[in-house]
Amino acid sequence: MDYQQILDTIKSDLSLMPCTGKVASYIPELAKISPKKIGMHLHCINSGHYSFGDNEERFSIQSISKVFGLTMAMSVLNDKFFERVDVEPSGDPFNSLIQLEYENGIPRNPFINAGALVISDILISELKNPKKDFLDFVHKITENDTITINPEVFKSEKECSFRNAALLNLMKSFGNIKNDIEEVLDFYTYQCAIAMSCKELATAFMIYANSGKRLSNGDQIISPQKTKRINAIMQTCGFYDEAGEFSFRVGLPGKSGVGGGIAAVHPGHYAVTVWSPPLNPKGNSELGMYALERLTTLTGFSIF
Ligand code: DON
Repeated sequence: MDYQQILDTIKSDLSLMPCTGKVASYIPELAKISPKKIGMHLHCINSGHYSFGDNEERFSIQSISKVFGLTMAMSVLNDKFFERVDVEPSGDPFNSLIQLEYENGIPRNPFINAGALVISDILISELKNPKKDFLDFVHKITENDTITINPEVFKSEKECSFRNAALLNLMKSFGNIKNDIEEVLDFYTYQCAIAMSCKELATAFMIYANSGKRLSNGDQIISPQKTKRINAIMQTCGFYDEAGEFSFRVGLPGKSGVGGGIAAVHPGHYAVTVWSPPLNPKGNSELGMYALERLTTLTGFSIF
């Protein structure tokens, strides 16, 4: 398969696509990014790297970080915490408060904001230095210790985290947040503020395509069984109230972020990432979804 030719076709298809999406502005710092940025990176298990555009420029990974948080929690605690966060699709926006009230403060899954806030609370209880340990984990799976947070994005989100604070307060009223609300909010926002390029994210996501092993040296980062579960949650919950649409159009497990990034995997074959900041009304990268739909169409294979 000539993957570079397929990516070149996707790049030219994208240049003809009208884009009606809007760059996220509820975190003011994110609104400063050019809507024209676009990059894609495909990292194949057997045949290396293919890419185009701004694929080496770092951007705010935002909710893509939720996959790393879940991976760390599953490594530290096995399955014990799944009584505090479920694994069902929510069908609601990523920052919705509605289900939490009638489901007694138990978030539907770890990839909506409420679920990732519970995971952050769990990691604070279990780890000595949560922020350092989180960044160390990202360094370990990318073998790149230059990756860090964007301090302006971190500060900008901290100044307007009203909904996340509301989610935390509601869950604490049900007893599902054990630590100080401010500390959990700070750690959660820190994870979202990590900046990575498509290329770096594709390397990180290779563990989910490669049965939990780092490709470079075969180190087992997380067990194959846990990798299967994480991929299953990405498939059913990675795109909030658009998870069905992403499965329908693309057919891969993946995770989006409001920075305009999407990371997806074809287990046993590849990890792929795309970055285009304008978001559709559900908060997912409009052109990113289109690019991945073209990838599974032009290659003729997805997980289905
Ligand atoms: O908590 C928030 O609202 C953001 N830091 C992350 C949201 C996000 O990326 C949703 N993804 N599509």
